[in-house]
Amino acid sequence: MIEFKEVSKKYKRKQVLDPFSLTIREGSSVGIIGPNGAGKSTFLKLAASIERPSNGEITFSGTPYKKSISRVRKAIGYVPQDIALYEELTVKEQISFWSSLEKQKTDENFLAKMIETLRLHEVFGERVERLSGGWRRKVNLCVGLLRNPSVCMLDEPTAGVDLAAKEDIIDWLKQLHQEGKTLLYISHDWYELKKLSNEFLLFADRKPIFQGSEEKLMIEKSKIIKNYQEHKELGRILQYV
Ligand SMILES: Nc1ncnc2c1ncn2[C@@H]1O[C@H](COP(=O)(O)OP(=O)(O)OP(=O)(O)O)[C@@H](O)[C@H]1O
Ligand SMILES: [Mg+2]
Repeated sequence: MIEFKEVSKKYKRKQVLDPFSLTIREGSSVGIIGPNGAGKSTFLKLAASIERPSNGEITFSGTPYKKSISRVRKAIGYVPQDIALYEELTVKEQISFWSSLEKQKTDENFLAKMIETLRLHEVFGERVERLSGGWRRKVNLCVGLLRNPSVCMLDEPTAGVDLAAKEDIIDWLKQLHQEGKTLLYISHDWYELKKLSNEFLLFADRKPIFQGSEEKLMIEKSKIIKNYQEHKELGRILQYV
């Protein structure tokens, strides 16, 4: 369980997330959605301990991140929105390289299953610089989840990928959730989130403005649209709910 208590984030003088509190339950699959610039990626970076909160505290199973950072890092796999790969390495070399950086030994069965579901063997010998956007996303995902983490945090893992690749990615994430992993997943595609998530987290105006099931969102939808009338994008997202 990950708990945020009165957490906020500033970059220099710019307030990026206003104080908020929320809990991510173990084993839940949380779909995160909201307009550009609402603070979704910043939230995920805080959750993944890539960034530290300016105020407030985040705990993992009751222990503050600060006091258990190695345990937190071990438990969490993070896939960034910006692709972070070595262009000159082949896919195979890329995977070996990132595995070799891990402190614990790579779970070969897990890795083989991930490679198979994402069909990465098809491009094993290709250098990353020569891959299309969709393949890069898949390699980025594979590298982020190499260590078989119990909590998987993914920032727009299907941005710019074609429908077939999207299906492969969603299939793999579904498998992970069925195995009992916790998923935190950012997307701009409501239908995609619906396939994967049993809980939704809606961001606007530098904070989470809704957390809960689809049923709860259906009930609160018109109130949210009314309260955030100036956010046309929110209205667009919620029209599909
Ligand atoms: N390192 C940084 N320094 C300064 N400002 C930042 C930094 N990172 C993010 N921001 C700002 O914080 C705000 C929220 O950014 P964030 O990336 O969290 O939004 P987002 O909801 O993920 O948007 P998108 O849907 O476009 O990915 C934006 O105004 C952004 O410019
Ligand atoms: Mg983002």
